[in-house]
Amino acid sequence: MKTGKILLVGFGPGAIEEMTYRARTAIAQADVVIGYSTYIKLVQDLLDGKEVIRKGMTEEIDRCVEAYEHALRGKTVALISSGDIGVYGMAGPTYEVLFQAGWTPDSAIKVEVISGATALNACAALVGAPLTHDFCSISLSDLLTPWTTIAKRLEAAARADFVMGLYNPKSGRRTQQIVEAQRILLLHRSPETPVAIVKSAYRRRQAIQITTLAHMADCEIGMLCTVLIGNSSTFIRNGLMITPRGYANKYDSLTGLAKDGEQAGRSLTMGLIGWHGCVREYLRENPDATLRDTAKHFDTSLAEILTAIAKQPTNAMQACYIGLEQINQVLQAAANWQLLRAVVRSHGAVAEILLEAKNLTQRGTWLNLVNDHCHLHVDKQQIAKAWFFSDGDKQHGVYFMDAHGAGVFSLLLVKTDGVFTHTALQAFQQAWQQFGQPSELTDELETETVVENE
Ligand SMILES: C[S@@+](CC[C@H](N)C(=O)[O-])C[C@H]1O[C@@H](n2cnc3c(N)ncnc32)[C@H](O)[C@@H]1O
Repeated sequence: MKTGKILLVGFGPGAIEEMTYRARTAIAQADVVIGYSTYIKLVQDLLDGKEVIRKGMTEEIDRCVEAYEHALRGKTVALISSGDIGVYGMAGPTYEVLFQAGWTPDSAIKVEVISGATALNACAALVGAPLTHDFCSISLSDLLTPWTTIAKRLEAAARADFVMGLYNPKSGRRTQQIVEAQRILLLHRSPETPVAIVKSAYRRRQAIQITTLAHMADCEIGMLCTVLIGNSSTFIRNGLMITPRGYANKYDSLTGLAKDGEQAGRSLTMGLIGWHGCVREYLRENPDATLRDTAKHFDTSLAEILTAIAKQPTNAMQACYIGLEQINQVLQAAANWQLLRAVVRSHGAVAEILLEAKNLTQRGTWLNLVNDHCHLHVDKQQIAKAWFFSDGDKQHGVYFMDAHGAGVFSLLLVKTDGVFTHTALQAFQQAWQQFGQPSELTDELETETVVENE
């Protein structure tokens, strides 16, 4: 008996011309073709002389089982899916069924995944060039995925300024998911963000709507649509949706020459190696900017701003990293800093407490900050890193951060009669000398440039 084979074929968005040559030959090679009935119709012209098995919308696992059964009987089976079979398609479920049946890649039955253009690519091509920068796809179908997971991904992608492709945006029963998605995205994106809704790309009833995030949910949307949402630089011109590649960050649009400070083929000054330098330049140009203002300006964490200062003092600002192992010792040393201002931040609330340094005590994993009127307790387990920080005669203290670089709390020295007391300052500087660590990245790295391989 002939050895069976399973070909997992993505045939692209719909039109035969959009199918890859390999997908076409795979279907031609098959004895049996299995697929959702609508997909079978789309490739009807290629099915002469083949056994064709049409399945309904909810019979996905049946399709996999049947493909395996036919392969066991020595047939070459093409299991077909629109777009790319590995993108919200049948490739994953087929492997799951096969593994459950004891199949391994060394088994006699060979399995091949044949990729195709997914809806995201096909729809993007019809509306211009919306995916020219970082993008992601999110399915709004909550049939198999908890809504909280989908909501978390929408939030993260919106916050990170990804261009997004929303698959399965709406169906007869799932009408509110797109409304809720719009609400979440508007927390981070402008209402004017360009949106393209593409229905049935490369199929008979193809239709395109160009709109904005503010109006997205009012548009006609269904299961045959993919919704493309731009990032903060995506624009619409002459009906086309374009996301810039980033050349304007480096080159003058009129002359084509690299802008001041930038070099062709090298990382941007705001690239990995250079961007801390930009932070310091910003601080020099904005001497009144606080650490928090600066973090907000660069849309980054306080820890990154302190790292930039730690590498090179700026104005009167100096910072020094404290390793996790040294944090307990620094807290003990703080008992000698006389009067302290402790600032604790949590989810938008800020608590400030003035206390005698000796009233800073530790019990188990808790740090207790106590004065006559108030007790504050900080879970030390939240602290992952810390920095000494000094700003001339304005501020001296320690910032304690969580693993993401967000502030957990800070301990700042307090002035008496407008000046820091000599003994407190001396004790603080001693702790800095004793427990401060050199910056993680050296200045040598800072000046190094990176040649791109593009
Ligand atoms: C279960 S997913 C299948 C995705 C498919 N495997 C792919 O790679 O495109 C079905 C969703 O894909 C999108 N889709 C598939 N084909 C499309 C087309 N021709 N035009 C627009 N959207 C399409 C729609 O969002 C639809 O709800």
